[in-house]
Amino acid sequence: MPTFVIFGASGDLTSRKLIPALYNLHRRGRLPEGTRVVGFSRTPYEHDAWRAELAESTQKFVGEKFDKGVWGEFAKNVYYHAGDIGQGEDFAGLDTFLKELEGDASRERVYYLSTAPRFYGPAVEQLGKNGMADQSSGARRVVIEKPFGTDLASANKLNEVVHQSFDESQVYRIDHYLGKETVQNLMVLRFANAIFEPIWNRNYIDHVQITVAEEVEIGSRAGYYDTAGIVRDMFQNHILQLLSITAMEAPVKYAADPVRDEKVKVLQAVRCLTPDDVKRDTVRGQYRGYTAEEGVEARSRTATFAAIKLSIDNWRWQGVPFYLRSGKAMSCRSSQIVIQFRQPPHMLFDTGPRSVNESNRLVVQVQPAEGIQMHFQTKVPDAGMRMRQTDLDFRFGREFKGSMPEAYERLLLDALEGDASLFARADEVEAAWSICDPILAAWAKYDRPTLYPYDPGLWGPEESTEWMQGHGREWFDTC
Ligand code: BG6
Repeated sequence: MPTFVIFGASGDLTSRKLIPALYNLHRRGRLPEGTRVVGFSRTPYEHDAWRAELAESTQKFVGEKFDKGVWGEFAKNVYYHAGDIGQGEDFAGLDTFLKELEGDASRERVYYLSTAPRFYGPAVEQLGKNGMADQSSGARRVVIEKPFGTDLASANKLNEVVHQSFDESQVYRIDHYLGKETVQNLMVLRFANAIFEPIWNRNYIDHVQITVAEEVEIGSRAGYYDTAGIVRDMFQNHILQLLSITAMEAPVKYAADPVRDEKVKVLQAVRCLTPDDVKRDTVRGQYRGYTAEEGVEARSRTATFAAIKLSIDNWRWQGVPFYLRSGKAMSCRSSQIVIQFRQPPHMLFDTGPRSVNESNRLVVQVQPAEGIQMHFQTKVPDAGMRMRQTDLDFRFGREFKGSMPEAYERLLLDALEGDASLFARADEVEAAWSICDPILAAWAKYDRPTLYPYDPGLWGPEESTEWMQGHGREWFDTC
């Protein structure tokens, strides 16, 4: 009977993601029997008042999946304990409260840090000081939300603090992209099928595109976003995770460390950009209207769009550019990985494709139209040897009944069950910062390339399209 302790319980993530995910797991009979959920935050609440508030928010976020009876069963195991992360004695009080709940049963606990990032260090320190990381009476794990640091130095420092209290095997750095079914399926596509691996390399692949486009603007998150920007918010974590799974070698087995070893190797092989590379190989943009958002500095230079070309210095990928792109206020919500294959070595037909942009393409749709498409040339019937591109189109929604589970459901369950395969390890996070830091530093120091404005509802600034054309390639834009 594990206990799931949420630090930052009165925050938005708790009501929007964590409790709905735990409730859904319970509803589907997946939550370990008798799992207790304990909220910890400064706001004082009686258990019942917190349960009532969560019932309302959960209903709002899970919609028709909300069932009063099922919620009632789940809520019996939901508790609240008020306390301040800055106060050591409040941790001692929490520990006493948890022990009372646990009785003599196993004291397996997951501590979920969903606080403001500046409290991650202090919370972990207090857990250590109060003996709450000690595993003699049951496993103790800590889940740490993003952002994990704001650069390499701060991530190193946070890792040091964390390791003073917890062993790395107890630490679960969450990146919700790894909880997405389509992202896990990328490993299945590559390593449970024999037909892709032989051509998954520089001999057959011209380039790879990874796009994570969002239609939304920054909403009410200016306080965080204006200091973070697109690279810290999306590239350092989600996009580099997608890159490492796309590019990694096959792990020796599917288990946390072998998988993460391979991902780290890819990140370590990514060539770090020099200031000159940054000028040439990145495009940055800011959507029009961003500086008028409440809480954003009127002269803010924060990028809300970036396109970055990275190279991976290893045998598999030498010479294959990885074009990464993400932005807010774009045409639509669309995340995809495009594997663009080379042209046939010799084209028999005058009517055949003339550029790489018409060659075979494998598109892994991460969201929202989860699926995979393979594009290839087909003869147009009764039109001589004229051809056009057609596709084989696999959609999860058509093939499998029921909706896709939320990423958080999978990840919270894994944390409760002690499977860290889909969580980032310390060296992985640090390797990702080593890629992002030089880009951020060059942007800040030289203010180059230009921060291009773009109208919301487009695919970022036009310069991004031109930049790609300058490389003889085209972005594959789909909504
Ligand atoms: C978060 C970012 O990590 O991911 C947000 O902070 C972004 O800015 C979100 O909107 C995107 O997640 P998803 O699952 O909607 O693609």
